Amino acid sequence: MKALCWQGVNELSVEQVPDPAILNAQDAIVKVTASTTCGSDLHLLGGYIPAMRAGDVIGHEFIGEIVDVGPEVSRHRPGDRVVVCSIIGCGRCWACRHDEWSLCENSNPNPGVTDLMWGGTTAGIFGYSHAMGGFRGSHAEYIRVPFVDYNAFTVPEGVSDLDALFASDAAPTGWMGAELGGVRPGDVVAVWGCGAVGQMAARAAMLLGAERVVAIDRYPERLAMTARHVGCEVIDYTSTDVTAELRERTGGRGPDVCVEAVGMEADSTGIQRVYDGVKQQLRLEQDRPIAVREAIHACRKGGSVFVLGVFAGFVDKFPLGALMNKGLTLRGAQQHGQRYIPKLLDRIAKGDLKTSYLATHTMTLDEGPKGYDMFKHKKDGCVRAVFRPWA
Ligand SMILES: NC(=O)c1ccc[n+]([C@@H]2O[C@H](COP(=O)([O-])OP(=O)(O)OC[C@H]3O[C@@H](n4cnc5c(N)ncnc54)[C@H](O)[C@@H]3O)[C@@H](O)[C@H]2O)c1
Ligand SMILES: [Zn+2]
Ligand SMILES: [Zn+2]
Repeated sequence: MKALCWQGVNELSVEQVPDPAILNAQDAIVKVTASTTCGSDLHLLGGYIPAMRAGDVIGHEFIGEIVDVGPEVSRHRPGDRVVVCSIIGCGRCWACRHDEWSLCENSNPNPGVTDLMWGGTTAGIFGYSHAMGGFRGSHAEYIRVPFVDYNAFTVPEGVSDLDALFASDAAPTGWMGAELGGVRPGDVVAVWGCGAVGQMAARAAMLLGAERVVAIDRYPERLAMTARHVGCEVIDYTSTDVTAELRERTGGRGPDVCVEAVGMEADSTGIQRVYDGVKQQLRLEQDRPIAVREAIHACRKGGSVFVLGVFAGFVDKFPLGALMNKGLTLRGAQQHGQRYIPKLLDRIAKGDLKTSYLATHTMTLDEGPKGYDMFKHKKDGCVRAVFRPWA
């Protein structure tokens, strides 16, 4: 079959790879009908995620049709149109039973590196390095889905492919940031990043009753899209002092909840970008936590900061003093999609959550390298490039 493979830093190619096969009794094979780029893939492309190997198939946010199931699969059968969670849960371990699916204790067969670095590992993630299990990704014609009963969700009739697609990763991630960030009715919420994840977090905050939601980015198309489709306020960080502006809009107090949806390759107009960029290049720190620092600084006393952006390791100049003295709560997680996907599909079906507009560019799998180039450099207003291998 055809697949989009990582070949090295900023190097992708479309290759023929062996078809996937059922390896375990709870597996299914899914024919991928749509698979999208995600900001997390940019960290792979940039070479910031360890344990990638040339030839690895990338991609983790996808929908498709089940074409084969193992003998112990009970909830799905061939022909089902499904959205699959980007992060793999086993459904039976302590973490999965406590609804903390991205912390699954069984689905990552290579916990060594991350156990050492973090003192614990995450679940397996499709197409996301050998440290996250070495699973083949979804930018391919077919994919093997382990523990399919827990990880695939039948898409209701009336929900289009492009709407269901973002229930795999961007929408549940955003929802988790708002919900576990503790958004309550009447809150003021600030979201850093107007990619698909930030937009979904902002929308979730509104649906959870926030009185005011402010989203921050630099790209005019993304800011305009967020204002139009999410319906929240926006700030361009290149022309505005974000912290001062957030204070101004919150009666001097700062937002109750700050959601960071930027990650380890954050940008800035100030000296921080140079400082963190140089240290990251020299491998003296792994991540550029610019938006995390800003969120901690801007947050109201006693408020909470949720880190949705992906970070790999150790950072420098972390404002621990602000965190401690302002009484902040700081959390983060890979997304617990299995907990949110059914509810999100309902909301999408009812029309209170819109997602398909995020698919700014749709193309074939052969155009994968071009799609990533557009997405990485935000060319032509690209928010998400969607590959449709069979279209
Ligand atoms: N926690 C999870 O399970 C999970 C799931 C999906 C994605 N992610 C992560 O979420 C992050 C966002 O993903 P995405 O797909 O929306 O990516 P994206 O690249 O499309 O969007 C990131 C946005 O952040 C903006 N940005 C950069 N620096 C900023 C700053 N200082 N202040 C405000 N905005 C800034 C960029 O301009 C860009 O628009 C990535 O780090 C990704 O890895 C996490
Ligand atoms: Zn993702
Ligand atoms: Zn588990």
